[in-house]
Amino acid sequence: MAFLQILTTSVAVAGLWVVIEAIRRLFFHPLSHVPGPRLAALTWWYEFYYDVVLPGKYIFKIQELHSEYGPILRITPDEIHINDVGFLDTVYSGLRDKYEYPLRALRVPGGVGTTSDAKLHKLRREALVPFFSKRNVLSLQHLVTEKVDQLAGIIATHAKEQSQVNLSDLFFAFSNDVVNNFLFAHKTNGLADEKQAGISRNNSKQLLLGIHVNKHLPWIPDLLEALPTSISRPLMPPGLIDMFNLFDRVRGEISGIMKAQSSGDKKSGRDPAEKEAVYESVLVNESLPPQERTLTRLEQEGALLALAGTESPAISLSIIFYHLLANPPILKKLRAELETAPADASWPQLEKLPYLMAVIEEGNRLSFGVTSRIGRRAPEELIYTPSPYATTPSTGKSYKIPARTPMSISTLSAHTAHRSFRTRLPSIPIGG
Ligand code: HEM
Repeated sequence: MAFLQILTTSVAVAGLWVVIEAIRRLFFHPLSHVPGPRLAALTWWYEFYYDVVLPGKYIFKIQELHSEYGPILRITPDEIHINDVGFLDTVYSGLRDKYEYPLRALRVPGGVGTTSDAKLHKLRREALVPFFSKRNVLSLQHLVTEKVDQLAGIIATHAKEQSQVNLSDLFFAFSNDVVNNFLFAHKTNGLADEKQAGISRNNSKQLLLGIHVNKHLPWIPDLLEALPTSISRPLMPPGLIDMFNLFDRVRGEISGIMKAQSSGDKKSGRDPAEKEAVYESVLVNESLPPQERTLTRLEQEGALLALAGTESPAISLSIIFYHLLANPPILKKLRAELETAPADASWPQLEKLPYLMAVIEEGNRLSFGVTSRIGRRAPEELIYTPSPYATTPSTGKSYKIPARTPMSISTLSAHTAHRSFRTRLPSIPIGG
C-alpha cells in the first residue's frame, strides 16, 4: 500500500514537473522569443528523432525550417541556429567557448577540436602551430608525393586490367596514410590493401553515425567502457574497435618518444627517413604545462588529429573527383592547365594554377568538412539583425541572444548561401 502511494506520488510529481518545465521552456525561457517549431523548443527528442532515428538528418531539417521560420531559429530548448553568413564573424571570432554538449559525443576531451574552454583551446591550438604551418607541410611534401605515386599506380593497374576501382575507399586509405605519416614517426600503408581500405572506410562511417547516439544517450558508451574489454569488445561496432586500436597505436608512438626523451636519445623511435614526428614538437613545447603533456591527453589529441585528418580530405577528394568525372569539360580544362606545369611540380608551383585552386576550393565547399553543428557561446549578450546576406525571407526584426546561448551556423548553411552571393559577388566560372 505504502509502495503504491509512493509510486503514485512520484508519478504525480514527475507529471507536474513536466508540465511546469514545458510551460517554462515555451513561455518563460530566455529563448522563448526566438522562432522555431514548438516541439524543438519543448524537448531534445525532436533533435533525437532526426539525428538518431532517421539518422543524421537534423542538419538538413534545420535548413528546411529556416525557409519556414526565417534566418534565426530555436533548434533545441537551449540552442539557436542562424542561416546568415553575414553573422559568421560574430558567432565564430573572438574568444568563444565551444558548446560542450555535442563535443562529448566524440569521447576524447583531450583533443583540441573537442576542447570547450576557449583559453585551454587556445593553449592546445598554439602547440599545434608548428604542425599546421606551411613550412612544416612543405618540408614533408615528399610524404604526400610518395602516396600520390602509389595511388596513381593503383588506378593505372585498374585501368590496364579494365577493372572497377572504388575511389572513395582509395581516398580514405590515402588520406589516412598521409596524416599518419605526417603525425607519427612510424609509417602506415593502408593503400596497399584495397579491400581493407573499404572495410575501414565503412567502419569509420558507422562510427561517425554512432556519434549521435553518444550525444543523446551517453550512458551507452559509458556502460561499454566500464565493462571488462572481454565483454565490451564483442558488443562494440567495428568502427569503435578500430578507434581503440588507433588509441593503442598512438599510445605506443608517444610512449616511445617519451622514453627516448627521458633517456636523452632524441632519435630513437623515429622513422629511418629522419622526419620528426609532430608529437616530438608538441611534447617539447614549453608553452604546454605538464598536465597537458600526459600520455592520455596526447594520445587523445593524436587520435583525434588522425581521425579529422582522414575523413575531411578523403571526402573532399571524393567530391572533387566525382564532379571532374561527371563533367568532362571541367576535367578537360583542368588537364589543360596541369599540362602547363612541369611533371614533377612542387606545391609552390601547383598553387599558382588558378583553375586547380578553384577546383580544390569548390571541392572543400561542397564537402562541408564538419557536417555537424559547431556551436559557440559568446560571453556577452548579442543582437542579431538579418544581414543582406541572409538567404531566407525575414521581417528584418532584431533578436536578442542572451549571453552564453549555444549558437551555430553550420558549414552546410554557410557553404550553400548561394542567392545573396550570386547577386553580390562576381561568379567564378568553373565549367566550360
Ligand atoms: C579538406 C580538408 C579539411 C576540411 C574541409 C576540414 C574542415 C574542418 C572544419 C570545418 C573544422 C571545424 C572548425 C571549427 O570548429 O570552427 C575543422 C576542424 C579541425 N580539423 Fe579539419 N578539415 C580538413 C583537413 C584537416 C586535416 C588534414 C587535419 C589534421 C591533420 C584536420 C584537423 C582538424 C582539427 C584538429 C580541427 C579542430 C580545430 C580546432 O578546434 O581548433 N583537418 N576542420
